[in-house]
Amino acid sequence: MTPETHTGLESPRGVWWKPAHKAEKIWVGIAFAWCMVLFAMMPLWHLRGGQNPSGIRRRVDPQAYEHRTQEFIAQYKVGDDRGMPIVAPPPGSDVYLAARQFQWTPILQLEKDKEYVLHLSSLDVNHGFSLYPLNVNFQVIPGYDYGLRVKPTQSGDFRIICNEFCGIGHHVMVGRVIVVDGASPSVGEPVGPSAGPPVLPAGGAR
Ligand code: CUA
Repeated sequence: MTPETHTGLESPRGVWWKPAHKAEKIWVGIAFAWCMVLFAMMPLWHLRGGQNPSGIRRRVDPQAYEHRTQEFIAQYKVGDDRGMPIVAPPPGSDVYLAARQFQWTPILQLEKDKEYVLHLSSLDVNHGFSLYPLNVNFQVIPGYDYGLRVKPTQSGDFRIICNEFCGIGHHVMVGRVIVVDGASPSVGEPVGPSAGPPVLPAGGAR
């Protein structure tokens, strides 16, 4: 063994054991205090932060969820966009959105400033609910029904983008949420592609 070689079995040479410099102690103190601040913020954010989902969560069988979604569609359907139903549920109701490879079913038409309980679940694998261009992100997991209390505050034609890689068609998994001002003007009258940019076609992810 050469004199320069060290193994973990022997102490390193030199004066590593002398007390830390004052500046280093202060630095460690500041870092530790900051760790404690962040640590305290975790529960604080959970209780006081406005960004937590007001979650209702329960287990659900994917087939039962699909069935419930179909019922919901049949009950409130007002039109369709190239085969994808457009559903306008009344304010205050339970809204069902099902994710599956590679689509979001159905297209939702909600009223601005009205509250809904938005249920999210997946019928196959994990998907990610990302409301574009707003910064709303949520995991969509098979077997779990997440009920989110939502109140749209902006009218417009929004896109739901899948932000969790879910397979070969992940990049085309785009859904649609339409938020209208006041009472739904288009009940009984389909909102066609002319009402806004159409759902992105397959292969048209951006
Ligand atoms: Cu669904 Cu990616």
